[in-house]
Amino acid sequence: MEKKGQILKILREKKQVVSGEVLSAALGVSRVAIWKHIRKLQEFGYHIVSTPKGYRLESSPDALFSWEFVGRESKIHYFPVVTSTMDIARDLARRGCPDFTIVIAGRQEKGRGRLKRNWVSSEGGLYFTLVLRPRIPPVLSARVNFAASLALSLTLRKRFNIDARVKWPNDLLVDNRKIAGILSEMEAEADRITFINVGIGINVNNDPPSGEPLACSLKGLLGKEISRNELLAEFLEIFENRIHNEALDDVISEWKRYTLTLNRPVRIVTTRETTEGLALDVDENGSLVIELADGSTKKISHGDCFHT
Ligand code: BTN
Repeated sequence: MEKKGQILKILREKKQVVSGEVLSAALGVSRVAIWKHIRKLQEFGYHIVSTPKGYRLESSPDALFSWEFVGRESKIHYFPVVTSTMDIARDLARRGCPDFTIVIAGRQEKGRGRLKRNWVSSEGGLYFTLVLRPRIPPVLSARVNFAASLALSLTLRKRFNIDARVKWPNDLLVDNRKIAGILSEMEAEADRITFINVGIGINVNNDPPSGEPLACSLKGLLGKEISRNELLAEFLEIFENRIHNEALDDVISEWKRYTLTLNRPVRIVTTRETTEGLALDVDENGSLVIELADGSTKKISHGDCFHT
């Protein structure tokens, strides 16, 4: 475990002054080394009071440093500013980084949304991309995205008791307003996925961009600032358990329990065409099954969905 993470864990558990001696014994390093780590943590914005008897943690910044994710540090890449976490994750994936590598940004200068849109990524939101290497055939790849939106819905429900719903394909809505979006990029060979990068943007403490009237943030909903670290840590646990310990066979059926999209009229817009009809089902590959005006059905694999 990274030393800074260990120091913070002890200071958080004890909630009072902890001597340099106790810390150095627990970590197996000298008191001078402890002091240097404390200095660094202070520089990073941790309010650690140094007294003659030792150190006390008063408050922590809501920054997404790797050492805040105990046990995951080696796979976390945190950057205060990036163009897009998707760019960095793609480079890492092509260079062979391990499954469940996570790229996190404080803000993005060229955040990307689906269908070639921008994703405004100001300070206070949560922006990250997971590099995944699932052992499933490429044709089933959409299940990974459904697992991500389902896990995020379950996380928001559990943590904040809010009715977070999924909209096809992978938007998260609360009170019909968008709180999070998911973008994925895949590289595959004929029968094997090389990687799927799942990028998630969540409106947490940021103001949702103006010009997006149907967006909301957790801070706006709950009336207080939210710890992005704790939210991300909980999401990672729920999502990892689901994709690593369970077959993805049940994902779509469980996802359907939380969706707003089915049994209602919808309009699906892609860069090529617009389709209107009644949303009947989502099939095992994640495609939306629509009943058209003439009674025939059509399957759509991607697009923007409007509930009409
Ligand atoms: C959408 O709803 O259009 C998808 C939005 C996805 C945004 C996230 S933020 C982290 C990752 N990096 C990006 O540039 N985009 C995704």
